[in-house]
Amino acid sequence: MGSVLLALVVAYLFGSIPAGVLVARTYGVDIRKVGSGNIGATNVLRALGPGPALVVAFFDVFKGGIAVLIARAVGIEGPLLGGVALAAVLGHNYSLFLGFKGGKGVATSFGTLLFLDPILALWTFPIGVSVMLLTRYVSAGSMTGGVAATVLALALSRPLWEVVTVGLMALLIFWTHRENLKRLQAGTERRLGEKEGGRA
Ligand code: G3P
Repeated sequence: MGSVLLALVVAYLFGSIPAGVLVARTYGVDIRKVGSGNIGATNVLRALGPGPALVVAFFDVFKGGIAVLIARAVGIEGPLLGGVALAAVLGHNYSLFLGFKGGKGVATSFGTLLFLDPILALWTFPIGVSVMLLTRYVSAGSMTGGVAATVLALALSRPLWEVVTVGLMALLIFWTHRENLKRLQAGTERRLGEKEGGRA
C-alpha cells in the first residue's frame, strides 16, 4: 500500500514539472501570457519555434512514461497502474508548481499510454496526427486522439480498468480544451504554425 501511495505522489510530482514554463523562461518568455496561454508544446511552437517545442513535447511525454515505468518497477499493475497514469496527467493539468493550474494533458497522457499499452498508443498516434495535419488544428487532433484511444481500447477488448483509465484521460482532454472548443465553434482557433495576429 505504501509503495502505491508513493508511486501516486511521484507520478503527480513528475507530472507537475512544467517543462513549457521552464523552457520558455530560458528565452525570457512567460508562456502563460502568450498565444493560447497554454504551457504545452503547441503554444511553445507558436511563441518560440520548433526547437523549444520539441524539447517541451519530449519532456511532457517522458514524464508520463517514467511515472508508469517507476510504478511497474515496484510491482504496480492493473487499476492501480491506471491510477498512477492519471496522477501524472493530473499533475500536468493541476501542477503543484503553478498554483494547481497547468496544461491540457495531451502529451503526458500519450506518454503514460506508451508504457501502459504501446499497441494502443501506436494506433492512436497516427489518427490524432492525421486529424491535426488535415485540419491544421492541434486541438482537434488532440481531442480526436482521446476519442480514438477510448474506442480502440473497447474494440481491442482491453481490460475494464484500462478502458476506464483511457476514457477518463479523454474526458480530461475535452475538459481542458473547453476554450479551444469555443474557439473552434467561433472559427477563431489558431491553426498549426499560426502566430499571434493570424500570420502563418
Ligand atoms: O495539446 C494542446 C493542444 O491540443 C492545444 O494547444 O495552445 O492550441 O490551446 P493550444
